[in-house]
Amino acid sequence: MTACTRAQDILDWTNASWDRLPTSTELRQRADEMAKKLAGEVAAGKLPFLATPFMAGLTKDLAELEAGYLKRFDHMLLLGIGGSALGARALQKAFAPGQDLPGHTGRSLWIMDNVDAVALTAHLDRLPAAKTLVYVVSKSGDTIETIGQYFLVKEWLKNALPTEWKDHLLLNTDEVKGYLREEATQFGIRTLPVPDNLGGRYSAISAVGLVPAAFLGMDWRALVAGFQAVAAPLADPKLDAATLAAHPSFEFAVWAKALMDAGYSELITFLYIPQWASFADWFAQLWAESLGKNGMGSQPIPAVGVTDQHSVNQMFLDGPRNKACLFVERAPSTQGEAKGPAFPADMPPIFDYLQGKHFGELLPAEALGTRMALCQNAVPLVCLRLGADDAKSAGKMMALLGAATLLTGWLMGINPVDQPAVELGKRLAKARLGGSGLTEEKAALAAFTGQSASGGGASGRDERGF
Ligand code: PA5
Repeated sequence: MTACTRAQDILDWTNASWDRLPTSTELRQRADEMAKKLAGEVAAGKLPFLATPFMAGLTKDLAELEAGYLKRFDHMLLLGIGGSALGARALQKAFAPGQDLPGHTGRSLWIMDNVDAVALTAHLDRLPAAKTLVYVVSKSGDTIETIGQYFLVKEWLKNALPTEWKDHLLLNTDEVKGYLREEATQFGIRTLPVPDNLGGRYSAISAVGLVPAAFLGMDWRALVAGFQAVAAPLADPKLDAATLAAHPSFEFAVWAKALMDAGYSELITFLYIPQWASFADWFAQLWAESLGKNGMGSQPIPAVGVTDQHSVNQMFLDGPRNKACLFVERAPSTQGEAKGPAFPADMPPIFDYLQGKHFGELLPAEALGTRMALCQNAVPLVCLRLGADDAKSAGKMMALLGAATLLTGWLMGINPVDQPAVELGKRLAKARLGGSGLTEEKAALAAFTGQSASGGGASGRDERGF
């Protein structure tokens, strides 16, 4: 992270291509309807991610954890998946990059968001249990990927620390429901609650992301302040159409929905702050799980500059004309601060234009080149230009994109806080593992896996060696 003078955070709409988005006019006229819906949902306690009614209590809890309990550990092993992991990873990569650098000696966060037996075994073989805090994050408390790991990690802790194991567990789960809550009650394990109606992918700025942030020593208070500065006007009971219409999240939602209406089926998030690349993954999950409904939505494509200029950018520029782009970069006034080393004086003639320049000057030049190339190739583009690559700007960005996702879903006429389609795969996996009931799923699995080996065609298998 670079200490730098704060410039304004800006959304640059210059290349949004409104002229190609004819439904944007009528969508903007829905500000009154959207403002009323927001006010109603906030009043009913359905949008705690915007209103953050839990924040005063959480701030107190975090300050206490930071001053005492968290200091006892060198490692945090986070068990969680989807919205329970991606926000923490984005914050870790952006604000505690030391762990990925040679010679790291400070605290480490290990995020286990997969069911990879090799990785789990390796972590348990190498982590010192006595210096490790296991942070289990699951709103439902029942997610097989997380709970499957929890059973094994609990055994590992019990074996290593027979009398103290419970003290090395911190559970973040629903206040009353779910298996993890039962565990907490049965064994007296320390917990933090996931407030009602705070869905996983909207929960990064809650204990879900803030406990790891506090553990890593980042400025979580600035993150919260940035988030609330953008979110609070939307959670104001007096929110009116004019205020919503002037809010950047509504403009972004209008743009996103108008893009879908005009056939733009993919939304690139191109991050030109390399350490922030994982925010694009966080946003991709938020966008995809919230908006992929009823045959609608736009596919989020996370990308990082400059690496992906030499990877997928050719497709962005000259593939199907179905892509729009959210381009994220630092404001020019902050870029000089990340100069890096200067190029040597004796540069070869073909690179003499680098003489007298610093390595850090490549990134903004390439960002400009790519942004301009995207615009010239008719990719509708909005540029989020951050005044500083600090926690406050990250909080503002997360609130902006969270609110924009919600509003885009409402403009689409879908529910952006559920994810019904992903349930089928979960039920089928559980049936495959022999879970009780699930009769229909078991029958469907038998039919799917038992297709005639000889047949081919629509109803049979078609497997060919190569
Ligand atoms: O965004 C979501 O709701 C999901 O990605 C969840 O976060 C994910 O499925 C994990 O769920 P849980 O926190 O209940 O374990």
